[in-house]
Amino acid sequence: MSILRAEAVSRCFGAFPALRGIDLEVGLGQRLGIVGESGAGKTTLIKLLAGLDQPDSGQVWFDQKIVSGRPERDLGFLRSSLQIVFQDPRSSLNPRMRVGSIITEPLRSKRVRRELNDIDQRQRLGEVLKMVDLPADSADRYPHEFSGGQRQRIAIARALAPKPQVLIADEPVSSLDVSVRAQVINLLADLVEREGLTLLFVSHDLMVVRHLCDSVIVMRAGEIVERGQSAEVFEHPQTDYTKALWAAVPRIRV
Ligand SMILES: Nc1ncnc2c1ncn2[C@@H]1O[C@H](COP(=O)(O)OP(=O)(O)OP(=O)(O)O)[C@@H](O)[C@H]1O
Ligand SMILES: [Mg+2]
Repeated sequence: MSILRAEAVSRCFGAFPALRGIDLEVGLGQRLGIVGESGAGKTTLIKLLAGLDQPDSGQVWFDQKIVSGRPERDLGFLRSSLQIVFQDPRSSLNPRMRVGSIITEPLRSKRVRRELNDIDQRQRLGEVLKMVDLPADSADRYPHEFSGGQRQRIAIARALAPKPQVLIADEPVSSLDVSVRAQVINLLADLVEREGLTLLFVSHDLMVVRHLCDSVIVMRAGEIVERGQSAEVFEHPQTDYTKALWAAVPRIRV
């Protein structure tokens, strides 16, 4: 069963076509890697899938419900079920809010409270802090008191708080120090496995995509140029473009 579906989705910025006729289906529990050179349209695509931006043509569905073209007030079903971890926790975490409020923010909407049967916010906060290996007293502190890796753990905790079905991570470790990247990736891998999450994982690090994802799409200039099981795509790339991405791996992984 597919949980997310895009059909013939296109998006232009002025005259520039950032996405050109994307068709994509993501199954429940699937872990899909999204790779491709800078500017290929990866972030544009996930924003459309998350209903944060609208296509010029085409349609996105989440769990059989139409996403595209709906006003934000009609997207409540998506705001709890689909969560995103962005690249840079410095800009995605409000510096004036305590970590506890940041993490429980997704739990304060009426709809999420109803869906989660008036979940105890304090208790859920404690649970997700534990899941990301942060001490319980982190809740009373501010984001600037944490390291980059810890801040990304906070972002992951916030994403998991409303018990989403789908987690999208857009280059979640590329802003982090190389020495802590593996820890955050391993944490993410554990949580995806434990919570049975559907994962969309955007990355330039093809080794990590191969490790984390069962399938992959390769994007170039707004199109999907290759797709399949990750092992297959990485071992037997069909296009010169994918071969070149793969060949560049040692240079990317400095
Ligand atoms: N809001 C916008 N206004 C104008 N152009 C945009 C906008 N957002 C994206 N673009 C352009 O669309 C293209 C695709 O951008 P996108 O951010 O989706 O690429 P990406 O694959 O995520 O790249 P990266 O790997 O660098 O994050 C780029 O050429 C970008 O400059
Ligand atoms: Mg991007």
